[in-house]
Amino acid sequence: MKKKVSVIGAGNVGASLAQMIVQSGICDVVLFDIADGIPQGKALDMSEACPLWGSSSSITGTNDYSHTAGSDVIVVTAGFPRKPGMSRDDLLNANAGVVSEVVENTSKLSPQAIIIAVTNPMDVMAQVSLKVSGFEPARVIGMGGILDSARFRTFVAGELSVSPEDVEALVCGGHGDLMVPMPRFTTVRGASITELLGKERIDALVERTRHGGAEIVALLKTGSAYYAPAAATYEMVEAIVLDKKRMLPCSAYLNGEYGGQGIYTGVPVILGGSGIEKIVELQLNEQEKNDFAKSVAAVRSLVEKLNL
Ligand code: LAC
Repeated sequence: MKKKVSVIGAGNVGASLAQMIVQSGICDVVLFDIADGIPQGKALDMSEACPLWGSSSSITGTNDYSHTAGSDVIVVTAGFPRKPGMSRDDLLNANAGVVSEVVENTSKLSPQAIIIAVTNPMDVMAQVSLKVSGFEPARVIGMGGILDSARFRTFVAGELSVSPEDVEALVCGGHGDLMVPMPRFTTVRGASITELLGKERIDALVERTRHGGAEIVALLKTGSAYYAPAAATYEMVEAIVLDKKRMLPCSAYLNGEYGGQGIYTGVPVILGGSGIEKIVELQLNEQEKNDFAKSVAAVRSLVEKLNL
């Protein structure tokens, strides 16, 4: 039997993610939304594309949480997106309510599932999901670092005129304006960009990465990015469903690692069939440690506003 992934929220990120999963054929999908007809219509449309995609995955659209029962993975994309001029943090209270309700309803029906939090402000929503589900931290993970790293990879590739697939990058910290792109751990086929580019150019690429989401919000004017966020989330779903044990930057509950205590923040992890199998601790230099600590403090100040 194929594994079952429930995608909560049939907006741009949720529907694009559902498409990538169904097109890949790796598992079955339930697409849930509270808007009547939207998940049903999008799911029917995707199921009619399956013969053309050569996929035998099934996809069901629903407004009924009971259809998510027994999921292996629950991806939470539901919530309000940013408008121009808003930071991810401005969404805090509204989205905390949405995510609590979603996790309350889905975690009871899928007690063995792994939850992936995508809704912003993502690190805080992962913390909300942990609290509401009562799951162990290895099974509640946030998506941010893969997206931020993909943006950094894109900008580095453009700067050096090389294929983005040959660029690996690491962006840690919270998925917010204080995220921490790490040039020392960003390489082109193993060569660190600190050897390939001058400091000024690296600083400019780091700055563009930090504001990569806002750059797209400013262009779209109504809504935020979704192709790259969906592709980044797909990478996590695939790592879990296929037990790939990939090393990926994800938001994880820190219990002393990197100096964080009881807080979600982006760090490199090994992601496989049981969720986060390990948090990988790299040796950071002083600057990286300071930047990381500032980013953790920013996440913590939001968590404190919610009195979790
Ligand atoms: C972004 C939003 C989705 O970074 O967080 O584009």
